[in-house]
Amino acid sequence: MPGTHPIKHFLQFSDFSLDEFEHVFQRAAVIKRKFKAYEVYHPLVDRTLVMVFEKSSTRTRLSFEAGMHQLGGAAIYLNTRDSQLGRGEPVEDAGQVMSRMCDIIMVRTFGQDIIERFAANSRVPVINGLTNEHHPCQVLADIFTYVEHRGAIAGKTVAWIGDANNMLYSWLQAAEVFGFHLNIATPPGYDIEHDRVETGRFTIFSNPSDACAGAHLVTTDVWTSMGYEKENAARLEAFDGYIVDSAKMARAAPEALFMHCLPAHRGEEVSADVIDGPQSVVWDEAENRLHVQKALIEYLLLGRVTE
Ligand code: CP
Ligand code: NVA
Repeated sequence: MPGTHPIKHFLQFSDFSLDEFEHVFQRAAVIKRKFKAYEVYHPLVDRTLVMVFEKSSTRTRLSFEAGMHQLGGAAIYLNTRDSQLGRGEPVEDAGQVMSRMCDIIMVRTFGQDIIERFAANSRVPVINGLTNEHHPCQVLADIFTYVEHRGAIAGKTVAWIGDANNMLYSWLQAAEVFGFHLNIATPPGYDIEHDRVETGRFTIFSNPSDACAGAHLVTTDVWTSMGYEKENAARLEAFDGYIVDSAKMARAAPEALFMHCLPAHRGEEVSADVIDGPQSVVWDEAENRLHVQKALIEYLLLGRVTE
């Protein structure tokens, strides 16, 4: 039941222009206000979201599923174990079939190539709910959260401490779109791959504390992402000293915020006093996944709603 709106996917952060993000943020603020006021907003009656999970999730599943219900639609959860995807059905065939039965699809998987092949065979919009390479919905929520707390992010400095993972590559794409700077500190052997980066808006630091100096936002993530569990012991050793603790936060700007996409490991990538402290906005950040993704779904299915 594809709609009449031209198909657009959100497979990585750079798929949207600044103008599109500004629209989505403006709608996210409206949709959030309605939610807080218990105002019924059902623009997606009879529309169905299919969510395909090849990796675990708490926030992504909950925010997409609850969000779709709150917009008046339905959400269906599929995972690798219980669907034919886990028994080798080609992703191209899955894209064809799912997109004939539903209106929009979210996929959480391993390689970015998998979601690209899925989208190439889909008649309906496909949203990246995390791949090894990107996590655009999370950075969408993070920037919305920054703007809510501190205003425009353009011209600001964001410190990324830790692994050069999916989150960092989405932050790098966001830096180019929104015009902010990234201070990056990753341990030796876990640095960014420069041929995957299409912006010059970053500086690499060998000392994670120096990367935090003057930053307006300090952010980190797990040292071992999903799919890399076998490397956990080596990573624990390599990332020693990369914890975001109060000493590093003290180097940041006085009004600096702390973010983490969660789930977090207190005592590894972040100390308990930082993640549970006054500069941390991790719960707002998590909640905002709901609001920004509702606005994203609205935009992908209905275009630029104005009201
Ligand atoms: N931050 C995030 O995507 O969380 P989940 O893995 O719980 O979905
Ligand atoms: N980088 C993490 C994010 C989890 C939400 C992972 O990919 O596991």
